[in-house]
Amino acid sequence: MRFARHDVCGDAPPAGAPFDLVACRNVLIYFQPELQERVFHALLAAVRPGGVLWLGEAEWPCASVLAELEVLDPAARVFRRRRSA
Ligand SMILES: C[S@@+](CC[C@H](N)C(=O)[O-])C[C@H]1O[C@@H](n2cnc3c(N)ncnc32)[C@H](O)[C@@H]1O
Repeated sequence: MRFARHDVCGDAPPAGAPFDLVACRNVLIYFQPELQERVFHALLAAVRPGGVLWLGEAEWPCASVLAELEVLDPAARVFRRRRSA
């Protein structure tokens, strides 16, 4: 495991992406819908196909990102990125 600072609102992808697991919890609830959508797409891009995205319990992906995810545990907000068809 490696720790590094990363601005989820920035344009640069996080170093080392794509990851097996991306946990981004209780951050997006503070963003306006337009920024939320942009960050959801960035989070999706940071998860490898078959990898897991874990959000905060008050967060839910926008529709276009949700279409790329399988819901593993809706209450815990755990999603798996679909492998491309
Ligand atoms: C409410 S705290 C949640 C902390 C933790 N994830 C949790 O669930 O307990 C929000 C966190 O988002 C971080 N944050 C705010 N804006 C950010 C950004 N643009 N990029 C990355 N982290 C950000 C803050 O530094 C803070 O640690």
